Amino acid sequence: MNIIQVSDYQKLSEMAAVIIAGQILRKPSSVLGLATGSTPLGIYERLVKLYQEKCLNFSQVTSFNLDEYCGLDPQNHQSYHYYMQNHLFFHINMDETKFHIPNGLAEDIEAECKAYDEKIKQAGGIDLQILGIGHNGHIGFNEPAHSFLYGTHQEILDESTIKASSRFFEDISQVPTTAISMGIGTIMEAKSILLVASEGKQEIIQKTVYGPIDPQVPASLLQLHKDVTVVYVG
Ligand code: GLP
Repeated sequence: MNIIQVSDYQKLSEMAAVIIAGQILRKPSSVLGLATGSTPLGIYERLVKLYQEKCLNFSQVTSFNLDEYCGLDPQNHQSYHYYMQNHLFFHINMDETKFHIPNGLAEDIEAECKAYDEKIKQAGGIDLQILGIGHNGHIGFNEPAHSFLYGTHQEILDESTIKASSRFFEDISQVPTTAISMGIGTIMEAKSILLVASEGKQEIIQKTVYGPIDPQVPASLLQLHKDVTVVYVG
């Protein structure tokens, strides 16, 4: 693992945006795995700026988001569809047929999950997967568990995750209790991974990077991946 400690959120955002921009410049048809949450916001802002300054071209980029809440309409302001459109897709020249987010309204969730993994495979796999991390070590929405779940699946959210997510909702009762998430296997198959963690995540980063590999800390499996960069505020 390549571990980069930075002093503040601005530096984290800059560093991560540089890594992502480098990937797109090296391979304009990159397949990116994208994350949501508050941490990537500064990164997306910088990528949009690089596009506006004509330094980056997203026309050949394909993306797959990590996860989506079950039961939220894409127009719902708390859905990850809405988040991605407003923070990134609406502001860059990405082809709208090339970005993918799991459909949390799918009638057959299992079929949706299978189809999602299939689409990633057909796209040639993910070149660079961006990850945030939850305080309990979840990546995507892979919560602490007794084993690592391989493929995209429906996840029951931890109470601590629901509580953490509630800051984006009017009321905690509005936070969905389940979500569709890429599995740990889907994530591990990415050719390279960029994990970003902002203030207050030092403890879980220590466990992830130096602790035992344990499904109770889902991110700890990243220790076995051959190309992971961790940028964290410490
Ligand atoms: C949610 C998302 C994760 C994200 C996490 C941390 O659970 N599903 O992908 O990493 O939040 O979010 P934040 O960056 O806001 O701390």
